Amino acid sequence: MDSGTTFIAKATLMPANPLFNDNKLKLGTFCTNTLANMTLVPERWRPTWANCLAAARLADNAGLEAIVPIARWKGYLDNKPDHPCNEILDVFTFAAGLAQATTYSAIFATSHAPTMHPLVVAKQCATIDAISGGRHALNIVGGWNRREFEMFGIELMEHDRRYVYLAEWLEVLRKLWTHEGEFDHHSEFLHMKGAISRPHPVQKGGVPVMNAALSPVGIRFSAKNSDIGLISPHGNRPREWRAEVESYKKMAREEFGREIQIWTNTAVVQGESQKEAEEYLRRYSAEYVDTEALDSVMRTISLENNIPMESERLAFMRARMAVGAGYPVVGTAQKIAEELQAISEAGIDGVIMTWVDYIDGLQRFTRDVLPLLEQAGLRRRFAKTA
Ligand SMILES: Cc1cc2nc3c(=O)[nH]c(=O)nc-3n(C[C@H](O)[C@H](O)[C@H](O)COP(=O)(O)O)c2cc1C
Repeated sequence: MDSGTTFIAKATLMPANPLFNDNKLKLGTFCTNTLANMTLVPERWRPTWANCLAAARLADNAGLEAIVPIARWKGYLDNKPDHPCNEILDVFTFAAGLAQATTYSAIFATSHAPTMHPLVVAKQCATIDAISGGRHALNIVGGWNRREFEMFGIELMEHDRRYVYLAEWLEVLRKLWTHEGEFDHHSEFLHMKGAISRPHPVQKGGVPVMNAALSPVGIRFSAKNSDIGLISPHGNRPREWRAEVESYKKMAREEFGREIQIWTNTAVVQGESQKEAEEYLRRYSAEYVDTEALDSVMRTISLENNIPMESERLAFMRARMAVGAGYPVVGTAQKIAEELQAISEAGIDGVIMTWVDYIDGLQRFTRDVLPLLEQAGLRRRFAKTA
């Protein structure tokens, strides 16, 4: 076989990124590379490579669309080196390893733009996209935890300025992913001469970009620039989210001429009965809540994102972080399927999930909840071909 034929055969076999499949509700895991929950429950998640790999294989075999790690260089507490929030696997090497070990799911990395030069990120993403055969995606964040930035000796920018930087950083990144020749770039933040990054990603135009903004300035950035907006909607129940989700998509469509997906994150607690699930939620998020870390995170968010300590918004965020940084989906398989259906009906396109124990959680979810979502028409039955 000559090289031309081989290339065509490979290209034809290359799986499309599942982020763009036709499942009405896409699903994924979130945060397996660290401890997502603010809990010190003894059986809490340990982000060992063996655990990350096992969770990723379960997600991949079940046909979940996304594996999304969290980007964190350091935890939330000062001078507590042994605290579990300091234990975080690097997102790019994590993604490269999982890209090799999986065949279906989109494998995300998450980049703190100010701590990584776009040249480095462009090449790492192109390499992970090559390893995964076009299944890579990038979550980009501007950062909010000053402790992380102080380790790099750089300033955490004032809130709205983070998005001015992020816009320029992303523009350069996308140019590196697509531009044929060398280019110079000179602006307030970046100075580059003869810039080039080859190979380009397998995915034409570059890898899909996600952004998790919550503020008006951040959401505007995301509507203009990202393929997926990741949000924690304000209302307590999914039926209250519709207007927020619709206005996000409308902004992208009407102001920027783009169609974007909106995803959210949830903490899943599945039980044989509602009572069992609720008791377990109470165990890890109340009885064993990590109050010290939670207090510290809330102080940091309040200070760096200009949200008053006593505000309703912060109380809401605190409650969400205590259970696992997202909307709690708690109950029997039937209840979880109903909650996910309500989330879908609010206009949400995808849900990334955390569990206290991802292995047990993914096994139960795949066995009991996925068939219900298929019956509800939210997802197609997944048959692995590779
Ligand atoms: C679901 C979700 C995931 C996030 N993941 C990260 C992350 O991995 N690393 C990080 O530094 N910030 C992360 N953030 C924080 C956001 O980047 C951002 O700072 C926060 O949502 C506040 O939004 P704002 O900048 O619009 O005020 C995440 C936020 C959400 C809602």
